[in-house]
Amino acid sequence: MRVICVAGARPNYMKVKPVMDALEDSAAEVILVHTGQHYDAAMNDVFFADLGIRPPDHRLQVGSGSHAVQTGKVMAAFEPLVGQLRPDVVVVVGDVNSTLGCALVTAKSGALLAHVEAGLRSRDWTMPEEINRVVTDRVSDFLLAPSPDAVSNLRREGYREDQIHLVGNVMVDTLLANLDRALARDTLAGLGLRAGEYALVTLHRPANVDDPEALTPLLTALGELARVCPVVLPAHPRAAGQLRDISPQVRVIPPAGYLDFIALQASARLVLTDSGGVQEETTVLGVPCLTLRENTERPITLTEGTNQLVGRDPERIVKTALSVLAAPPPRRSPALWDGRAGQRIAEVLLAGAGPEGRLRPTGESLPG
Ligand code: UD1
Ligand code: UDP
Repeated sequence: MRVICVAGARPNYMKVKPVMDALEDSAAEVILVHTGQHYDAAMNDVFFADLGIRPPDHRLQVGSGSHAVQTGKVMAAFEPLVGQLRPDVVVVVGDVNSTLGCALVTAKSGALLAHVEAGLRSRDWTMPEEINRVVTDRVSDFLLAPSPDAVSNLRREGYREDQIHLVGNVMVDTLLANLDRALARDTLAGLGLRAGEYALVTLHRPANVDDPEALTPLLTALGELARVCPVVLPAHPRAAGQLRDISPQVRVIPPAGYLDFIALQASARLVLTDSGGVQEETTVLGVPCLTLRENTERPITLTEGTNQLVGRDPERIVKTALSVLAAPPPRRSPALWDGRAGQRIAEVLLAGAGPEGRLRPTGESLPG
């Protein structure tokens, strides 16, 4: 079985690695394609080094651009490659523009498409990622869901049962595999931080960082919080230029590499974020998380984890942060977030698309 795995942006690398490993252990031929959506050393190279991912076999080098330009460049560059490589399956992960571009090309190529993280829904159509998720699922053959809520969403949308597979969370595979190495680093000492005494923040959603009217109240809340607890913020390049007016008490640092960021999360007293993946990692680490959004596509982190939605109102953020600092939630983890999701995915793909596969490309109808 020949499989193309696609990666291209920061939250892709830790998702694709366990899938590649499990497929290679099953004797599949794995080809890694890097779209080039993220390209800075701190957003890209450090993840290959930290996670031991081999260099990509093909680089599409699309870079930054508007949604249409970026997605279009991914499609135009990926299409001839799929034609040349003729894979049995293409695996896309998550919800970034690279995911969508490669999904659309695959769907028209005759290869089977597998979506890792299928079924997540924020029901917020102002999020570009929600469009990417829904469209990618719609053209996928294998819908690889991380949690029962994702399975329910897919069933409600009418997908066939044989397309839907509850496999668990690949991001957790990578977290558990690397936690000890992360904790052994001197990340905290290097930043003059002490375990259990600081808050860690990430912000990069366009709805939070692109518009000063949305960002200013968030920065006010972080400034307030910094009066009671040191606050450190590794800045995503999208937000870096917008953080000029942040309180001097909030420590802004460059984006952290994977192992450093896991070390920072694991020892934080509190995490405040608008990231998707960080909501999941804090749940598994048992660290309280406040999500600076009105909705989440990962509701299981609210019901079975340490996450709370706090929106963007500074008073509500500070009030909730103080109450969580006083009484942190208990640690608990969703079922199948156990480090074996990559293995389950490899089994599903081999059964469906391997030599004995049931799901060879047939043109079989998807739900209407
Ligand atoms: C993208 C994803 C988002 C994901 C995030 C993870 C989409 C639509 N969005 O958002 O879902 O949560 O990645 O980090 O795919 N830039 C750099 N260096 C880089 C990459 C980007 O400076 O290596 C800057 C560029 O100015 C670029 C901007 O960041 O225009 C935004 O990059 P882009 O990939 O378009 O979206 P993200 O905001 O990173
Ligand atoms: N991450 C990192 N360094 C940082 C911020 C995040 O290594 O400075 C990791 C984080 O641990 C998680 C992933 O990046 O594994 C999440 O990516 P991001 O927040 O960029 O995207 P999202 O999950 O929101 O799509």
